[in-house]
Amino acid sequence: MIKLSFETSLKTVAWKDNKVIMIDQTKLPNHLVFVEYDDYNQVADAIRTMVVRGAPAIGVSGAFGLALSALQSKATTKEELISDLEKAKKVLFETRPTAVNLSWGLEKIMKVAISGISIDQIKESVINEAKKMADEDIQINKTMGKNGSVLFDNNDTIMTHCNAGALATVAYGTALGVIRATRESGKNIKVIATETRPVQQGSRLTAFELKHDGFDVSLIPDTAVGYTMANGLVNKVVVGADRIVRTGHVFNKIGTYQVATMAKQHGIPFYVAAPLSTFDMKSNAQDVIIEMRKGIEVTGVGDKKTAPDGINVINPAFDMTPPELISGIITEKGIAKPPYEESIKKLFEAN
Ligand code: MRU
Repeated sequence: MIKLSFETSLKTVAWKDNKVIMIDQTKLPNHLVFVEYDDYNQVADAIRTMVVRGAPAIGVSGAFGLALSALQSKATTKEELISDLEKAKKVLFETRPTAVNLSWGLEKIMKVAISGISIDQIKESVINEAKKMADEDIQINKTMGKNGSVLFDNNDTIMTHCNAGALATVAYGTALGVIRATRESGKNIKVIATETRPVQQGSRLTAFELKHDGFDVSLIPDTAVGYTMANGLVNKVVVGADRIVRTGHVFNKIGTYQVATMAKQHGIPFYVAAPLSTFDMKSNAQDVIIEMRKGIEVTGVGDKKTAPDGINVINPAFDMTPPELISGIITEKGIAKPPYEESIKKLFEAN
């Protein structure tokens, strides 16, 4: 029996026979279910409801959604087609606000469409561009993984928060890509994954994909981060990102700021792994929108209610970690070190 791995063979999102195929992540870890879409509104819904999630995976899904809208368009002129694409882009863009990869992916496809000539040629080129984006995502993750693996030592126990793995990208992963590459380089490592309430990306997705691929992985409740660090159980931390601004402020899953603060308290190196497509070189940190999600994510687990009816809930999906808590930012173009304003600028100049 062929064992599929999250390193390459299992794709989180893909294009096949003019349809978008995704792993339904709401069903994990209990069921590995693939869903297929032929309507961009279905893709938008999949992003909103976290059938697909994770910044790079959302970016590629948005691009595939636009490619579907091109196929769905009944336009007879280029102008009409571009107008249909703009409508679809607005729907896809408004699904989730924090991960900058979504607008990055949508803009890249629109650029190709606008530079096109005939309707058929535009439809073909936006599909090809979205497919190229998906293929490049895997190569970028592998390069980033190699770049980051040098920061980790043999017998390290590495903590990670949320899921920045194959399931948050097309395959291989960003932070989990670094962990995969560290193992591939021959180092013996262990991983500690935080549960990552309220949507439990750590327990449902990270623990699932690492255990599936044979890693020595342990799961902790988010409230045990301090305990594990204070008791010397953690050597280093690596997480992903949804948006990094030019000053080095990093926006990632809620709880990342707490993990970084604890790591600083205990002198534990704290790394972020993210592709250049996750950098927002225009916005200031205070301008970044933090997605606020429904209270029901917090007042229950699955069908089980765990809070009184009518309780007020504050449920931000992301937080900001300031640069002074970050030991290094791992990208496909190299590793940025403090002061970040300079080192991030250099990464883009090298790009
Ligand atoms: O709400 P999610 O599951 O989309 O949040 C995902 C994260 O915060 C990831 O850490 C981030 O997107 C990096 S993915 C490589």
